[in-house]
Amino acid sequence: MAILNLKPTHKPVKLYYQSLKKFIQLGAVNEGAVKVAFADLLTACCQQFNWMLVQENSIQLTKKKLIRVDGLLVRDDTLKHGIWEAKDSEDDLAKEVQKKFKQGYPKDNIIFQSPERVIIWQGGKQVYDGEITKPEALVESLKLFFEYRPPQIENWEKAATEFGERVHNLGEKLVELIQSQRKTNKKFIAAFDGFSNIFRQSINPNISDAAVEEMLIQHLLTERIFRQIFDNPDFTRRNIIAVEIEKVINALTSKSFSRNHFLEEVDYFYLALEEAAKTIKDYSEKQHFLNTVYEKFFQGFAVKIADTHGIVYTPQSIVDFMVRSVDEILKKEFKKSLSDKGVHILDPFVGTGNFLMRVMREIRKTALPDKYKDELHCNEVMLLPYYIAAMNIEHEYLEATKQYQPFEGICLVDTFSVQEALQLDLFTPENTQRVQRQQDSEIFVVIGNPPYNMGQVNENDNNKNRKYEEVDRRVAQTYSKDSNAALKNKLSDPYVKAFRWAADRIKDEGIVAFVTNNSFIDAIAFDGMRKHLAQDFDAIYVLDLGGNVRTNPKLSGTTHNVFGIKVGVSINLLIKKKEGKKSQCQIYYGNVDEFWRKEEKYAYLEKCQHLGEVDWQEIKPDKKNTWLTAGLQADFETFIPMGSKETKAAKGEATDTIFKIYGRGVGTCRDVWAYNFNPDELAENIQRTIATYNEQVRKWLDRQDKSLKVDDFVTYDDTKISWSGDLKDHLKRGIIVEYDQNHIRQSLYRPFTKSCLYFDARLNNRRYQFPYIFPTPETEKENRVICVVNEAQIPFSSQITNYIPCLHYGGRQTQCFPFYTYDEDGSNRQENITDWSLDTFRQEYQDSAIAKWDIFYYIYAVLHHPTYREKYADNLKRELPRIPYASDFHGFANAGKRLVEIHINYEQQPEYPLTFIENDEVPLNWRVEKMKLSKDKTQLIYNDFLTLANIPPKVFEYRLGNRSALDWIIDRYQVKVDKRSDIENDPNRLDDEQYIVRLIGQVITVSLETVDIVDNLPSLD
Ligand SMILES: C[S@@+](CC[C@H](N)C(=O)[O-])C[C@H]1O[C@@H](n2cnc3c(N)ncnc32)[C@H](O)[C@@H]1O
Repeated sequence: MAILNLKPTHKPVKLYYQSLKKFIQLGAVNEGAVKVAFADLLTACCQQFNWMLVQENSIQLTKKKLIRVDGLLVRDDTLKHGIWEAKDSEDDLAKEVQKKFKQGYPKDNIIFQSPERVIIWQGGKQVYDGEITKPEALVESLKLFFEYRPPQIENWEKAATEFGERVHNLGEKLVELIQSQRKTNKKFIAAFDGFSNIFRQSINPNISDAAVEEMLIQHLLTERIFRQIFDNPDFTRRNIIAVEIEKVINALTSKSFSRNHFLEEVDYFYLALEEAAKTIKDYSEKQHFLNTVYEKFFQGFAVKIADTHGIVYTPQSIVDFMVRSVDEILKKEFKKSLSDKGVHILDPFVGTGNFLMRVMREIRKTALPDKYKDELHCNEVMLLPYYIAAMNIEHEYLEATKQYQPFEGICLVDTFSVQEALQLDLFTPENTQRVQRQQDSEIFVVIGNPPYNMGQVNENDNNKNRKYEEVDRRVAQTYSKDSNAALKNKLSDPYVKAFRWAADRIKDEGIVAFVTNNSFIDAIAFDGMRKHLAQDFDAIYVLDLGGNVRTNPKLSGTTHNVFGIKVGVSINLLIKKKEGKKSQCQIYYGNVDEFWRKEEKYAYLEKCQHLGEVDWQEIKPDKKNTWLTAGLQADFETFIPMGSKETKAAKGEATDTIFKIYGRGVGTCRDVWAYNFNPDELAENIQRTIATYNEQVRKWLDRQDKSLKVDDFVTYDDTKISWSGDLKDHLKRGIIVEYDQNHIRQSLYRPFTKSCLYFDARLNNRRYQFPYIFPTPETEKENRVICVVNEAQIPFSSQITNYIPCLHYGGRQTQCFPFYTYDEDGSNRQENITDWSLDTFRQEYQDSAIAKWDIFYYIYAVLHHPTYREKYADNLKRELPRIPYASDFHGFANAGKRLVEIHINYEQQPEYPLTFIENDEVPLNWRVEKMKLSKDKTQLIYNDFLTLANIPPKVFEYRLGNRSALDWIIDRYQVKVDKRSDIENDPNRLDDEQYIVRLIGQVITVSLETVDIVDNLPSLD
């Protein structure tokens, strides 16, 4: 049961009385004025449970009767908890209550309130009537109102919650049962193979056996829920897919195997739920349970699918806002409505069906039968939501028309492969026909919530986004081709495909309404996508709901994000017109306060109702297809680029940039294996993984079944190997890898953190330019590389190195500009600063003595200049640095030279004299496990034995990204054991046990001098 945590001394209660007092002082005592104070109090209470107070809400009592209540409390997004009615002091509250009941107000949980008094009715009876001038009484009445649950709902809720908690075990249990049958039961084995083949052919050719097992479980789980809980025993006979799967399951039945016997072990999970369900009459309560099953089943049990398919329920206020907005656009732009004949509507990612159900509610009842029959469409690729959506939509129709009609607009199909799939048989002839019918329909509105995910983080998870021929080709030809970004892998996110697919699907005219990840609005990789959206559509409305926890770490996903996730979200409405086209797409941007709680964001959408009420601001994209241009400085474009893709690729004389080539740090894709502080440990780990890899190559070459896919073939033993796409490709080509001691090299893994790296073409995913920058250890003595991190998520930073840096050297993707380049054997040294830039600098400063090293040092100092970093912060998030001419060239060059010296030779700097506080009770010990700063940051707890005191506060001013140099040391120099591989990485040096303590003193010295140099840099003008 929900307990309201409210005491008379709590802030919301105090604020309520203070506001009332103010209103009285101002003479504002009418209902409209004083009810604001009570609404705030209710809202504060709602926040404890993630409920929402929807003010001025209309409730349909009967077909003809609509009432408008002052407030409706909504729990779990759609369920009504209670009603609030406000009156002012002048009213006789008891009389007002009777008046309302005469009008038919419900008596199940309703609170009538005036500033002095509260009356509460629950379950048809008055349960409270008292004064609330004292906070104790106010709190008592609120607790009564909030904590109320009708007895049947309470039982049901308990059972449903328990089911949600147990769904994981339930799924596991079913897996065990299926797997044991697959070993022993011949009939089952044959039927299972047949079932898998149907799935592979119809839904996804790459589907694994485990995924087929999951589908079977989805069927068994939902079938039973529908049969028992929803009292819909006909579902499996009526639903065209369920009929087929039932056949398979029935075929499994034999003397030794019956469904009831099969499910016996999990019976007890269901019983409580089924008992409770008998007392529930309200469909929305049960429907809410289905939504829970939908999310919980995937998130708790089939986590990989939840990830790649974006299984998440769309909050009702978002669905309402989008459906109303589409209707509004249809009226304004096309003189049509959702009810009109010919307006075909498709949700390509239907989930539980909530978009289509909402659309049906918007359609005139007289128009509904025809629309339902011919013009509403949806797709789903997973069985469980497919069933749920079918049942929900059919129920919605039954409610509206009092007739049961199967919904023929739903297809079990992968939206992105409809065309390819149509050439095959799509599960059942009827499903194939439906897909064909949808394909032949002129879709006017595409609406929904496409899946979005960042893609697989670890190849060992074997959980890649599926590749699609047609839509992938379209993305490559358009969004990707026209992008200037260096890194385009974000374009493989399914929500990007969804935009591409939908823009193509609506043909000449129509509307696309998607709620998606909001990163396409501003992130660099999406410049080509923005360009094409503006080309493909005539008007675009983007309502940014914020919530990106990575770019704004002060946010919490659960509190501020409308989906409770970490990725930002936007509602996007795109309009394509055949007639009355404007020459340029009109783009409108609206946003909400990022720091609003998600309930406030929902309430805002409720308040707006549709796009017409949003405060839009028109966007004028710049030449680079940037939409949000505020903060970008135009003069940045006039500075000389450090590097460009064109110059890097150009043959012959390099012009227009300072450096000829540049590239990212080394990306191994298996850092735990390819890096280690300890070279012996590294050698051992890498040899173990090479042996595993080579063994896998041999097995692959010897395999009997040539149709096997590498993904399903290799071992995913995390303690032996960590795969990458590249390594699998090497395996496919039968490449054997040999261990080479000389490949163990010194690397700078993070700022001031040296680590050993196994630098190898096969075992590093990408080495980029580093075979030509530091081909041999000798080159480390003379070559220098300026590294920069210019990413949206963290502040700009720059650091020099003379060792191979990691891809994330500065905490995020790092771009590296070397002074020299070489051939792979270390010969043929070339200067990488272009002659063109030498001439340009000499001319600008009228100084023929300027040398390339001077320019290199000049740049390093400019990149540290506070004004440069502050003024151009937004530019530096979007593109590689450009270098302005400051008037005092040599002032900068000299400062830069010293910065380079101390940053390269940090281990030779004097140690800052810290005070050593020793613990007498512990023996001398230099070993670090994990260091920690004191709260005031003046002391560093090095270990049990030693604390380093008197750290000067200025040290923390030298920052690299989102950490100071000292913070980097504390973060990196700790003993870590990787959970997956069990590999230990220990920074302590046996041959030099005081290395870390010395390093701390040295980095403090470096930091202090850096801050001094930076503070005294000449002006940038
Ligand atoms: C974000 S959810 C939709 C949520 C839905 N609006 C709701 O609130 O229930 C996305 C749904 O699309 C389905 N899906 C993902 N990829 C798909 C594809 N390529 N074709 C069809 N359905 C897909 C997923 O299984 C999932 O149920």
